[in-house]
Amino acid sequence: MNARKIVDGVHWVGALDPDRQFFDALIPLPEGTSYNAYVVQGADKTALIDTVEPAFLDVLIGRLASLGITNVDYIISNHAEQDHSGSLPDMLQRFPAAKIVCTPRCKNFEIDLLHLPEDAFVTVEDGDTLDLGGRTLEFIHAPFVHWPETMLTWLREDRILFPCDLFGSHYASSVMLAGDGAPVLGPAKRYYAEIMMPFAKMIVKHLKRLADYDIAMIAPSHGPVWDQPAVIIDAYRDWTAAEPGNKVLVPFVSMHGSTRELVDHLVENLAARGIEVVPFNLLYTDLGHLAVELVDAATIVIAAPTVLGDAHPLAAYAALVAKALKPKAKYAAILGSQSWGGKMADQLAGLLAPLKLEVLGTHVVNGKPRSDDFAKVEEIAQAIAAKHAEL
Ligand code: FEO
Repeated sequence: MNARKIVDGVHWVGALDPDRQFFDALIPLPEGTSYNAYVVQGADKTALIDTVEPAFLDVLIGRLASLGITNVDYIISNHAEQDHSGSLPDMLQRFPAAKIVCTPRCKNFEIDLLHLPEDAFVTVEDGDTLDLGGRTLEFIHAPFVHWPETMLTWLREDRILFPCDLFGSHYASSVMLAGDGAPVLGPAKRYYAEIMMPFAKMIVKHLKRLADYDIAMIAPSHGPVWDQPAVIIDAYRDWTAAEPGNKVLVPFVSMHGSTRELVDHLVENLAARGIEVVPFNLLYTDLGHLAVELVDAATIVIAAPTVLGDAHPLAAYAALVAKALKPKAKYAAILGSQSWGGKMADQLAGLLAPLKLEVLGTHVVNGKPRSDDFAKVEEIAQAIAAKHAEL
C-alpha cells in the first residue's frame, strides 16, 4: 500500500471500495466508492484529515507506513458519519497522543456514535486555525452538507480545500485527479442528487463564502480530487440554481397495462410540445437515476395502479424518495387506474404535499382507458406545457 502524492507534503492515504453496492442501505453505488483520507505534514506536526470505513483500516495504516509516518499529532474529523469517523477508535489506539480536531457538535456525535472519551478531542470554532509548522489549517464550519456538525478544512499555503462529503462522488477509480471532469461529473451529479440536494439552499450559502478562497484543488472524501476546482464549483452552482429546466419526470408502475397506456399517451403528447420527458418504470429503475433527473426537472407526474385500495407500493416509495430529496420541481400531476375504487391519487398527493408542488391535474381511469381518458391526459399535458412555457 502506497500513499499517493497530491503536492509535496500532502498525500492521499484513503481506500477504494469498488465492491460496495449500497450506501446507507438505500443508495445504489453502480461505480463503488472511495473513502479518502489525506495526510498533511508540516515542519512540526502531522495531521490526518478524516479516516476511512473501518473495514479498510489496514489500507489506511499501510499507506501511512509507506510515508514512514510513526506519529500523528492531529486527526481532523470534518464529519462524524462512520465512513469517515469509524476508524477513529483504532487510530487512537495506534496513535494515542493524537487529538481529534472537530466542531463541538461533531465531538458530541462521535462520543455517541463511537464511544470515544471526551479528552480525545480538541474542538474548533469557525475560522480557527491550526499551525503545523509552515502549513496552516483553517476550519470552516459548514453545517448541513449534509449533517449538522460538518466542517471544511482549508490548507492555506497549498490552497487545498478538504470539504469531506461536499463535492464528492461515489466513484472508485485509481485516477487521482478529476481534470476537466470527464468521467467524474456524472457520478458527482448522482452523488449531489442523492446526498446534497436536500441541502441546496445551505450549499448556495457555502458556495458564496467559498468564493473568497483562491482554491487550487478540492480534495473531497469520496471520489477523485478536483484539480480544476471550477469544474465542480460551476456544476454545483448549476445544480443548486433555483430555476428548473423544461423537463418532466414520469415515474410509473403498471400491472395490466392501463396505467402504462396513460403514461405512453402523456409522454408522446409532452414530447410533441417540445418538452423533455423522462419516463421511469419503477419496477426496474435505479432510484439513483431518478434522483439525478430530479435535479433539474420542473414537473413530476407520478402514475400508478390501485393495489388493495391503495397506491401501488412502488409509486408510494418513489413519492417518498422525491419528498425526501427536496428537488426544485414546481409542478405535479397524478395518473392512475383502478377497477372498483380506491384512494391512490389522494395518497400520492399526500406523500408529495410537503414539496408544495402545484398540482396541474389528476386522472384515475376505471379499467382500460377510453378516448375520454386520453382526452383528460391531453388536458394535463396542455396544462404542463403552459407552465413550462413560463420557465
Ligand atoms: Fe461520506 Fe456523510 O459520509
